[in-house]
Amino acid sequence: MSTELIPLESLTRSERTLLDERYQPMRDILPDIEWEIYAPYVAAIEKLKKERNAVIIAHNYQSAEIFHGVADLVGDSLAMAYLAADTEAEVVVVAGVHFMAETAKLINPGKTVLIPSLEAGCSLAESITGADVRLLRERYPDTPVVTYVNTSAEVKAESDICCTSSNAVEVVESLGVKRVIFLPDEFLGKWVASQTGVDVILWKGHCMVHERFTPDEIRRFRAAYNGEIEVLAHPECPPEVLAEADFVGSTGGLIRRVGETQPPRVLLVTECSMAANVSVNFPNTEFVKPCNICPHMNRITLPGIYESLRDMKFEITIPPAVAERAKVAVDRMLAVGRGKSG
Ligand code: 13P
Ligand code: SF4
Repeated sequence: MSTELIPLESLTRSERTLLDERYQPMRDILPDIEWEIYAPYVAAIEKLKKERNAVIIAHNYQSAEIFHGVADLVGDSLAMAYLAADTEAEVVVVAGVHFMAETAKLINPGKTVLIPSLEAGCSLAESITGADVRLLRERYPDTPVVTYVNTSAEVKAESDICCTSSNAVEVVESLGVKRVIFLPDEFLGKWVASQTGVDVILWKGHCMVHERFTPDEIRRFRAAYNGEIEVLAHPECPPEVLAEADFVGSTGGLIRRVGETQPPRVLLVTECSMAANVSVNFPNTEFVKPCNICPHMNRITLPGIYESLRDMKFEITIPPAVAERAKVAVDRMLAVGRGKSG
C-alpha cells in the first residue's frame, strides 16, 4: 500500500493530466501557489482511492480543494445519503461532519465508512440525546417524532422518521397528522410549521453558523447593492432572517435556485465556503458572501483525508441495536423522497 506523498515531478503523464483536470474548475478561486501545496495530497489521495476501492462523498460546505480537488460525489445532506446508498465502492470516506458519516454507515452497514476527523461534530447534533427524546415521548404520547438528520444515530433510533432541510416539509406532510415533535432545530421546525400548518413541539437546538445571521445584516447587504441582489437563505437561520429572504432552501436547493434564475448578484445566507464552490459553475453571477464558517466542517482537510485513506481511520461503528432502529427512521425518510426544495 502506498503511504508516501508523491513528488509532482515523479507523476506519470496521465496522473498529471488528472491533476490538471481537478485544478481546472478552481483556477479562479484557488491561487496556483496554494494548489502547489495541495497537489501532492490530491495525487496521493487519487492513488489510495484506487488501491482501496474508495469513494469520497463531500458536503457542499467543504473547502474548494476538497470539493473540486478530490471529491467523487458532492451534495447536500440528503443527496449524500442517496449517493452513499448508490455507490459500489467498498470504502466510503465522508468529507463532512460526523452525523453525515453515521448516516452513510446506517445506509451501508456492510461498507467501511471513514471520517477524517472525529472532531467534526455539529452544534445541532450535540444539543440532544436519546434520553431527551424518550422524555419527550413520555410527555407527548402518540405524537410522531420527526428528527433532522443533524443528530446522532442514538437520537435517530428514538425517532419515527428523519428529514433533511430539503425534504422536511414533505416528510412532515407525509405523516398526515396535526402535530409532530420536531427535533432538534428550532428554526427549521418553525419554518416547517409555517409551510405546512402542522403544529410543532420544538427543541432549542440551533446551528452555530446560521443562528448568527441577523435581519439587519441582510437589510444592510440589500441597501449596499441598492436592492439589486437576490437573497437565498438556509432554513437553519432564525425566522426573522428567513423573512428577509427571496428564497429558502437546503444547500442543494439554493444551488439549484441559482442555476434556475441565474441572478446577476446573489447573497447566500449560509456557510460561506459554499459560495466559492458554486461560483465556478455560474460565471455570470456575482456571489456576495457573509463569511460565517463552520468550524466542524473545517476540521476536514486534505492531509486528513490522505491519512484517513492511508491508515483507514477513523472508522464509523454503530452498536447493532441502535443501528437497526436508526436505519428504520432513515429508510422512511428516503422513501418520502427528495422534496420540492431539495
Ligand atoms: P443541507 O446541506 O442538507 O442543506 O444541510 C446543511 C447543513 O447543516 C450541513 O451541515
Ligand atoms: Fe452543524 Fe451548522 Fe456546521 Fe452544519 S453548518 S455542521 S448544522 S454546525
